[in-house]
Order: sequence, then C-alpha cells, then structure tokens
Amino acid sequence: MIELYAQERNRSYVDPVLVGLYDAVNPPGPREDCYLELIMSARAVLDLGCGTGRLLKRAAKLNAYDSRVFVGVDRESSMLAAAKPADDAVSWEESGIVWQRDDMRTVDAGRRFDLITMTGRTFHELLTDADIRMALSNVIRHLDPGGRFAFDLFRRGDEPLACVAPSPSPIRVATPSGECVDVVHAAERTTEPDLVEFTTTYTFAESSTPIVSRSTRRFIDTDHLRALLEDVGLRIDGWFGMWDRTDFAPSGAEDIVVTTYIH
Ligand SMILES: C[S@@+](CC[C@H](N)C(=O)[O-])C[C@H]1O[C@@H](n2cnc3c(N)ncnc32)[C@H](O)[C@@H]1O
Repeated sequence: MIELYAQERNRSYVDPVLVGLYDAVNPPGPREDCYLELIMSARAVLDLGCGTGRLLKRAAKLNAYDSRVFVGVDRESSMLAAAKPADDAVSWEESGIVWQRDDMRTVDAGRRFDLITMTGRTFHELLTDADIRMALSNVIRHLDPGGRFAFDLFRRGDEPLACVAPSPSPIRVATPSGECVDVVHAAERTTEPDLVEFTTTYTFAESSTPIVSRSTRRFIDTDHLRALLEDVGLRIDGWFGMWDRTDFAPSGAEDIVVTTYIH
C-alpha cells in the first residue's frame, strides 16, 4: 500500500497548466526569508525538491555579484521547466544555477555543499522510513562536515487534518491568459496511521470540469524524526516556529528545522 502511495505522482507538479499556477497558489511567505539568510552565509547550496526554483532564483538575484554555487534538484520535468526560463530569457544572475532532474533520494550532484535545503514542506512527501533514510543518507553524502541541512514541516504537533482545513473561501488565482481559477485544498486520513491524503481542486472559470490533484503526505512523529536525523549524524541545532528563527509561535504555520552534519 505504502509503495503504491510512494509511486503516485502529484498532478500539481506534473500538469504544466497547474505548474503554471504553483507560485500563485503557494506564495513565498516569510519562510523563504529564513532560508535566504542561511543561503547568504553559504558558499554552495543544494536545494532538494526545488520546484519552480523560486528560492534559488531569489538568492541568485541577491548575490548578483558573488560566486556561490547553486544546484536545484527536482524529479518533475514540468517543475524544472518552470524553474529554468528559455535561454534567451534567462537573466545573467540566474544563468549560473544548475537545474538537475533527479530523485533527491539517489541524485548525485557530483560535489559537496555547505548548505542543503528542502523547502515548502517537501519533507512530508517522503512517505516511509526507508524513503527518509535514503534521502538523509544522500543529504550527508553531499554535505561538507559541519555543513547544514534545513527543511520545514507543517507546524509541530498540529493535527494533520487541521493543517489543511479548507479555507472559508477558495484561493483565487489567474492563468497567464487571465482566466480565474478557484483552488481548494482538502485532506483525509488514510488507513496508515501517519499518512494523510490531500486533494487540491482547481475550478477554471471557463471550464465545467475541475482538475483534481491528489497526493499523500506523511506526518511523522517528532521524536522518531529526531532519531532518524541523529542516526545519520545530523545534529538538530534549531527547531523554529517562526521564520526569524525564534521559537515556536502558536500563530506560526510551520516549523523550520536546522541541522548540522557532525562527521
Ligand atoms: C511542495 S513542492 C515544494 C517546491 C519548492 N521547494 C517550494 O518551496 O515551493 C515539492 C517539490 O518536491 C518535488 N519532489 C517530491 N519528491 C521528490 C523526490 N523524491 N525527488 C525530487 N523531487 C521531489 C516535487 O516534484 C515538487 O516540485
């Protein structure tokens, strides 16, 4: 059953029309500022599950006169197509970013980094302990000793279904041609205790058939996650509830976990 979930592909990351809406449906928010601060003090950054590449592209613009190494990895070609503009449209700041289509559990980026990020709650998409162990082993294989791995999760201790309680009204976004799209998230428990199935329904103003994307996320027990991180040599330096890396705040929507690789 779990293997089946693990193989299911999320239409929001695959269908180019939905990918085109991704950044509007998932606006950057203050979380990105926290990662940008970490990136500013790093020399080489690997972003796993980079999606539309927003974080690295923002960082590249900020570091316009610098020579940092940025590599973004994602397994979906549509997401990477959104990340990588056409050759004639790419700004020179962004031209140095390497985009690599691959699975974060097995990718070989061919070098080590002093910062690895996994943003946008992508960690929840690792559905089994085996997936997490593979991903973390690959993280440390790519980290310099003393390098940092930072990722975020839905808010600590939250009831998973409450994390995505349907908003009172849909999120309204628009396609590049101006067509309105109403987007509604919903979540349901599965028969596996810590797996939740999410659906996102996109209703286009000019079409009577909505598009529904389905995905599964794991809400791992916090102590178990700590143990998995420590098993591979990732020391937890901070588990923050706010983007400015202050501690847990009841109003925060997510946790940011910053770890250091102790070789
Ligand atoms: C929730 S999105 C986050 C995108 C981006 N990091 C952000 O913050 O907007 C998750 C991304 O991770 C990618 N992804 C999920 N599992 C992956 C895997 N095993 N290897 C590589 N990419 C993966 C998906 O294709 C998707 O683009």
